[in-house]
Amino acid sequence: MQEFKPFKEGKVREVYDNGESLIIVATDRISAFDHILKNKVTNKGAILTQMSRFWFDFTKDIVPNHMLSVDVKDMPEFFQNEKYDGNSMMCKKLEMIPIECIVRGYITGSGWASYKENGTVCGIKLPEGLVESDKLPEPIYTPSTKAEIGDHDENISFEQSIDVLEKAFPGKGAEYAEKIKEYTIALYKKCAEYALSKGIIIADTKFEFGLDENGNVVLGDEMLTPDSSRFWPLEGYKPGQGQPSYDKQFVRDWLKANPDSDYLLPDEVIKKTIEKYEEAFELLTGKKFA
Ligand SMILES: Nc1ncnc2c1ncn2[C@@H]1O[C@H](COP(=O)(O)OP(=O)(O)O)[C@@H](O)[C@H]1O
Ligand SMILES: [Mg+2]
Repeated sequence: MQEFKPFKEGKVREVYDNGESLIIVATDRISAFDHILKNKVTNKGAILTQMSRFWFDFTKDIVPNHMLSVDVKDMPEFFQNEKYDGNSMMCKKLEMIPIECIVRGYITGSGWASYKENGTVCGIKLPEGLVESDKLPEPIYTPSTKAEIGDHDENISFEQSIDVLEKAFPGKGAEYAEKIKEYTIALYKKCAEYALSKGIIIADTKFEFGLDENGNVVLGDEMLTPDSSRFWPLEGYKPGQGQPSYDKQFVRDWLKANPDSDYLLPDEVIKKTIEKYEEAFELLTGKKFA
């Protein structure tokens, strides 16, 4: 049997090279305040992988995506193992476009900080009088460049994103920049509206696109998971303050109250967190997580 080693190991996910395809594995690791907790959140990886799968299916009429299979039977023998069953996605290998495509429907985080300072986010002027967590009149596209490990991603204007892409793909910068912006807004609008009808606010999210062998723009990475997005409960949503996180609030609250814990949390907090992931999955997909 061919052995596989991840060629990329992020905080939460592992990526394996399988020739024409990649196997992206979401682990049960969880991060909070930029640290990986010592606890594992049982089934988090599978739930997030199945959530991405749901969204890729839900939006395939808007933009083609890289998903090939979530069935380990379609993957090399090495992955046909309980350890990878449900949390792995086989994906078409793409040449990635080096822009993080962020879209914001609500004002929070670094967007809120920038607005308070000068009324703009990534060079986009916003209406006066917004309060923290307000819904924006229209979702805005706020691209950033992917930082090298350790650095923070840098927010850029749409015009700067054209320059970045023109350097990477001479003659194609404007075309790709336009395309990924349009796709990003269209994906967010459709999915955020749907999620809202199920009781979940998707305040903002990040997409990554790449090019297939024919130069088509294809949606990659993970899609609209709570790890790549801010999910807020609709119930209790109240502009004028920060909102609780749909999935990580119990973890954050506990860590704040226990600053000396060294990132090992009580089972009870982890159990409640697992239930939040299951609940989000069930609300969004209409299926029980099995
Ligand atoms: N279809 C794809 N083809 C090639 N690379 C991909 C594809 N989908 C996602 N990626 C890349 O795989 C990596 C996923 O790893 P991740 O743990 O998110 O690390 P990071 O975002 O820190 O680079 C990212 O670099 C992402 O751009
Ligand atoms: Mg990533």
